Amino acid sequence: MTDTSASRPAKRVFIKTYGCQMNVYDSERMRDVLRPIGYAPADSADEADLVILNTCHIREKATEKVYSELGQLKLMKQERGGDLTIAVAGCVAQAEGAEIMRRQPAVDLVLGPQAYHKLPEMIARASRAKGDRLETEFETLEKFDALPKTREADGPSAFLSVQEGCDKFCTFCVVPYTRGAELSRSVDDITAEARSLAAQGVREITLLGQNVNAFHGAAPALSNEADWTLGQLVRHLAKIGGIERIRYTTSHPRDMDDDLIAAHGDTAAMMPFLHLPVQSGSDRILRAMNRGHTAEDYREIIRKVRAARPDIALASDFIVGFPGETHADFEATMQLVRDVNYAIAYSFKYSARPGTPAADMAGQVPEQVKDARLQQLQQLLREQQAAFNRSKIGQTVPVLVTGRGRNPGQAHGRSPWLQAVHFDLSGDHRAHDRDPDAFLRDLVGQIVDVRVIDASLNSLTGELVPVREAAL
Ligand code: SAH
Ligand code: SF4
Ligand code: F3S
Repeated sequence: MTDTSASRPAKRVFIKTYGCQMNVYDSERMRDVLRPIGYAPADSADEADLVILNTCHIREKATEKVYSELGQLKLMKQERGGDLTIAVAGCVAQAEGAEIMRRQPAVDLVLGPQAYHKLPEMIARASRAKGDRLETEFETLEKFDALPKTREADGPSAFLSVQEGCDKFCTFCVVPYTRGAELSRSVDDITAEARSLAAQGVREITLLGQNVNAFHGAAPALSNEADWTLGQLVRHLAKIGGIERIRYTTSHPRDMDDDLIAAHGDTAAMMPFLHLPVQSGSDRILRAMNRGHTAEDYREIIRKVRAARPDIALASDFIVGFPGETHADFEATMQLVRDVNYAIAYSFKYSARPGTPAADMAGQVPEQVKDARLQQLQQLLREQQAAFNRSKIGQTVPVLVTGRGRNPGQAHGRSPWLQAVHFDLSGDHRAHDRDPDAFLRDLVGQIVDVRVIDASLNSLTGELVPVREAAL
């Protein structure tokens, strides 16, 4: 066979990603699938031959964004005389693929999250003929098995998907319908991907799953063991040379087992950060949400986690204005937030989603009430976040360097508690003795000591502690 790749003009793909980290990961995997068929990544839609919107269906606003973006792309396509391929991927594609096709004829193909390995075939088909543009079945063949085994790492921190889908069916949520049933990858597959990332300089991996702590992947071949839990997986991955930091997200209170909690205390690579969404502090609302736990169950988990790792940063998600939520229910949420004290949290107004049980529940809460509750909750959460960041002032913290900082002579990185850190390099003589750019390049991927000088709502600032001083 002759290799025609050298003479083939390079095509460019631009992927715009909405929604959760799973979509960020999936977008990377789509780039991996497209690279062998000649698509190089583009920085914007303007420069691209193929634009993929990787969409999110979680709230109404997220879905609306997709249609307005498609309107823009349609104009771009018209200006180019039709010379642009438009694809819609992700959870909106899965939930309402046919609707997308109907509402926006400029779309060339629609594919759900389980079909990404079919992208090359679908692009070829779309360029030959219109029609036959939809691929949103849940494949019985595992997507994970069909995707390329190699990954191209982009920097020292990487996502690694270990579990997909959700069987929890919270009454407000579309994810069980857009991502399908829970499915875990095998430990061997995950290990191979983690090793390949480590070999490319990745130091921090974030294990992803819609319910990542429901992970139950096939144990290593020949081990004869039953499926592994997330705790076992973390302890195993921590042994891979080069992997110095492990995180996981997002977890569910019902799957927070004692071994995983213990790993926070006894596994050095396990970072002191836990995103454990609770949604509400009211048992009545938690029941109506079908969360399967009470507020006290959640508090108990938090107590255990803090006993295992006292400095842990806690994160959560909240929904205000779920159908039937009274002032007293909302107050219970506020009290839970005061009791737990979060490092960071994400809060949303309840958004009725088509096809979910809560959308048809009595007692839908008026928009102004939701607005007022959201503001009140976010005010409290912001205060806690700022206080958490301020608590690091004066400390020397290990920072994984990820790149250039905000200002010249500054680098950027992440603290163990997932805070963004901007820090000056000038305190280190090497920043003066050498080309500053080369010095910074060498630092990327290293974990360095940074003395924290100041803190804002969203980041820390500090200065690099010179190596010799740090060693004292
Ligand atoms: N699997 C994760 C998160 C799923 S979606 C979990 O179980 O926690 C991320 C967050 O979006 C949820 O935690 C929830 O707070 C929010 N969310 C989901 N559906 C929503 C809806 N219909 N309206 C408002 N917020 C919603
Ligand atoms: Fe949605 Fe609940 Fe599943 Fe999370 S656990 S993805 S909120 S159904
Ligand atoms: Fe959105 Fe789908 Fe993630 S609905 S939050 S992109 S799983």
